[in-house]
Amino acid sequence: MSIPKSHYFEARPEVPSRPRTVHLRLPDMDLKLQSDRGVFGSKGLDLGTLVLLREGPAPPAQGEILDLGSGYGPIAVALARRAPGARVWAVDVNERAVELARANAAASQAPNVTAATPGQVPADAQFDAIYSNPPVRVGKAPLHRLLLDWLPRLKPGGVAYLVVQRNLGSDSLAAWLAEQGFAVARLKSKKGYRLLEVRPKP
Ligand SMILES: C[S@@+](CC[C@H](N)C(=O)[O-])C[C@H]1O[C@@H](n2cnc3c(N)ncnc32)[C@H](O)[C@@H]1O
Repeated sequence: MSIPKSHYFEARPEVPSRPRTVHLRLPDMDLKLQSDRGVFGSKGLDLGTLVLLREGPAPPAQGEILDLGSGYGPIAVALARRAPGARVWAVDVNERAVELARANAAASQAPNVTAATPGQVPADAQFDAIYSNPPVRVGKAPLHRLLLDWLPRLKPGGVAYLVVQRNLGSDSLAAWLAEQGFAVARLKSKKGYRLLEVRPKP
């Protein structure tokens, strides 16, 4: 019998569902979220996600915020609770993850989350802020394509915060983003992760 292979960034993971509760503990909230096999972070909250949510700047109080690669939604839900007047897009290619993000938002009193696959986001949507623990494991070229698809959708004056493990190429990603014409700053370096601030150059 062959064991189905599955990556967390597949549109429809082949591995059978096995729901699991993940505890999101932050200074300002304590939430139980549902994750699942075939979804990134099915075994517990990712350390990079925790660094982004603990160390990252507060979201804008209003406007449109994107959680790029939202998985089961820990970043989107936390941002939505911190900014109830903003709309937070939780966007992921993995349909199982999108369903979980939607259910987690509903169960966490975060009605301002819109969970969607990339194709469901209106082509003209623009964002005041993007937060992301990006999918570095998809490979360099797909990761670069993903960032070049979404970062240009920041509004003028908008800002992106990316958390990337130092061992998985955060510094070369920062250098590449600067080469693409973005203003990049390293905001924090914590627990092996870099928190990058990325702004379109005026
Ligand atoms: C490192 S995980 C972070 C997940 C979640 N934000 C968290 O903190 O637990 C990156 C996510 O990006 C998603 N992803 C991969 N390729 C993508 C793409 N082209 N567009 C949108 N999301 C993508 C993966 O499915 C995965 O859920």
